[in-house]
Amino acid sequence: METIHTISWMKEVAKDSLINERPIGLVPTMGALHEGHFSLVREAKRKCSPVVVSIFVNPKQFGPAEDLKKYPRTFEADREALANLGVDVLFAPSAEEMYPAGFSTSISVKGLCDRWEGRVRPGHFDGVATVVLKLFEIVKPHTAFFGRKDAQQARVIQQMSADLNLDTQIDLCPIVREPDGLALSSRNIYLNHDDRHAAIAISRSLATCKKIIEGGERDVVRLLAAMRGTLESESRLTPDYVEIVDAATFEPVRALRGNCYALIAAKAGTTRLIDNAYIEQENGSFRVSM
Ligand code: PAJ
Repeated sequence: METIHTISWMKEVAKDSLINERPIGLVPTMGALHEGHFSLVREAKRKCSPVVVSIFVNPKQFGPAEDLKKYPRTFEADREALANLGVDVLFAPSAEEMYPAGFSTSISVKGLCDRWEGRVRPGHFDGVATVVLKLFEIVKPHTAFFGRKDAQQARVIQQMSADLNLDTQIDLCPIVREPDGLALSSRNIYLNHDDRHAAIAISRSLATCKKIIEGGERDVVRLLAAMRGTLESESRLTPDYVEIVDAATFEPVRALRGNCYALIAAKAGTTRLIDNAYIEQENGSFRVSM
């Protein structure tokens, strides 16, 4: 595996692949890698060669009061794991390389960037869209792989790709969970023993939603009441939002129709966690994946 720190060299390597008509797969990450990230890498390996993984803790997507400084950094372990998975290139630029003095462009996907995560974290999705567009231009991937764990982020990137006629295909991969249901996240290491236990109520709440939908419930008010009930059984959890939204617009829906997401954001102690379930309509019935 080659480790590349500069944009100019990454572009040279990408150019070589394009000349040889090899479809590049890109997995953008911020490091502190876990099985969720590795599942994207495996999917990229199945579909593309060469596979490029980027590790860049993107300062532009962190708010002033957020955890940029203390965001977990485990570069050597990440590099070893990616090499063992057969990744071809690790692209790990510095902040100065990506944002030299005078950098002044920002990508903003209106509407989508302003709701839910975007409202709680102003500027967050502009930072994500800006860095992802830069990565696409530098790496020139045929396909880029993102997790449904960050469903709104994935939707923002799909909308940006469509609006700007980007050539990169966006591939969405399922959420990887701990055996007890907790969605894997680099931020889970912040959870102390009690908060870690309380956090399970988030996936339990989504499982409740899944079960009720599979039992025939279509009314969103009743679904949300059941989800909130499960969350409220854990006093250490502070729900931020619990919503069922249209999968394309992320606007709340009143009744299940088309594809939707059940979204949860909640604090376990001081750690903010997000999770979701994907609700797909198929010939009048609904299938829920989480
Ligand atoms: P990061 O949080 O490192 O996540 C990188 C990718 O891994 C994202 O597409 C995310 O959805 C996916 N992922 C995280 N946890 C997952 C899980 N449990 N199951 C499946 N996929 C999971 O998301 C970012 O970085 C950044 O915003 C980035 C896109 C790299 C832009 O800076």
